[in-house]
Amino acid sequence: MNSIASILKKDEFTSEDIVKLLSISEPESLEELRIAAEKVLLKYRGPSVYFRGLVEFSNICTSDCYYCGIRKSNSQVKRYLISKEQIIDGALWCAQQGYGSIVLQSGERQDSAFTDFITDTVRTIKNVTRSENLPGGLGITLCVGEQTRQTYQKFFDAGAHRYLLRIETSDKELFSSIHPPAQTFDSRVKCLQTLKEIGFLVGTGVMIGLPGQTPEHLANDILFFKNIGVDMIGMGPFIVHEQTPFSIYKDEQEGQLESHFLNSLKMIAVTRMVLKDINIAATTALQALKHDGREMGLKFGANVVMPQLTPTEFKKQYMLYEGKPCIDENAEQCKGCLSRRIQSVGRSVAINLWGDRRAVHKV
Ligand code: 5AD
Repeated sequence: MNSIASILKKDEFTSEDIVKLLSISEPESLEELRIAAEKVLLKYRGPSVYFRGLVEFSNICTSDCYYCGIRKSNSQVKRYLISKEQIIDGALWCAQQGYGSIVLQSGERQDSAFTDFITDTVRTIKNVTRSENLPGGLGITLCVGEQTRQTYQKFFDAGAHRYLLRIETSDKELFSSIHPPAQTFDSRVKCLQTLKEIGFLVGTGVMIGLPGQTPEHLANDILFFKNIGVDMIGMGPFIVHEQTPFSIYKDEQEGQLESHFLNSLKMIAVTRMVLKDINIAATTALQALKHDGREMGLKFGANVVMPQLTPTEFKKQYMLYEGKPCIDENAEQCKGCLSRRIQSVGRSVAINLWGDRRAVHKV
């Protein structure tokens, strides 16, 4: 038996095992990894794919991450905040389509006008989407950055039960090389812990292909996910945006896109093998690199897809990275296209279900 096959037979993985799996380069071994990850997915979660309608409701951001297209110093971005009514319309549409959940994502702002807007919107979504088909209303995921404990608690009390906050990288040094000093690794970790304490299902994730990132960093990222006990993962390739300080990596990235893409698929598969029953998203960034990137993500162990609900007029202003796909499509088109893509890989879309790995107990 080759060494990859013997690692794939294990139930628990060491750091060395993970590095070996992430370093796979032969197509046969990659396929072995894919099959093993798919098997774990089917055993622990079954074939269902869960839709979470994604509304990028504001691109106003007080952070200045070196890699991100909507960083506050990018003066070429036209800033917006979608009205509460438009978000509610999106939520109602989502519920009608049988999507069990919605994700509200935005740039980072801590002022109370903004956080109160979110709390109020969450409460309203809950009120208007309860139905016979969906007794608990839409499941609500927030992805609005670092906030105080009090703010997180308000979001939770209003009815949000999941929170996504990517660690971006679990390596402290690498973290500080991609963020300005105002943002710290310790503060991000503290937020993840606070979210867990409050009772949220917590999601995190990393970017793959960051300048200076090694297979060891990525292996440690997976162990980090395990150690903090995450419920959800969203990760994808880092893609250069011209209007950011990281545009200096443009040329370097050209030759590496293929390997970033493959590394992203391997990260999904190995995360599935190690964490088994969590939810893993096949992210849009995967599709930015390959037209069938999201289907590939599903085949390598992902089980969540986030169809775009952001009104088309705003999508072009929410470019975190270049080449973001589907920006001219409306929500209806996104739904049809994604359902076809999911069927094409032999899986089915779950209807009117939250699809969480465990129930949330509100305290
Ligand atoms: N390439 C890929 N992903 C990016 N994100 C931000 N900028 C980029 C980029 N240039 C991701 C970050 C963030 C999420 C909302 O988008 O991981 O957490």
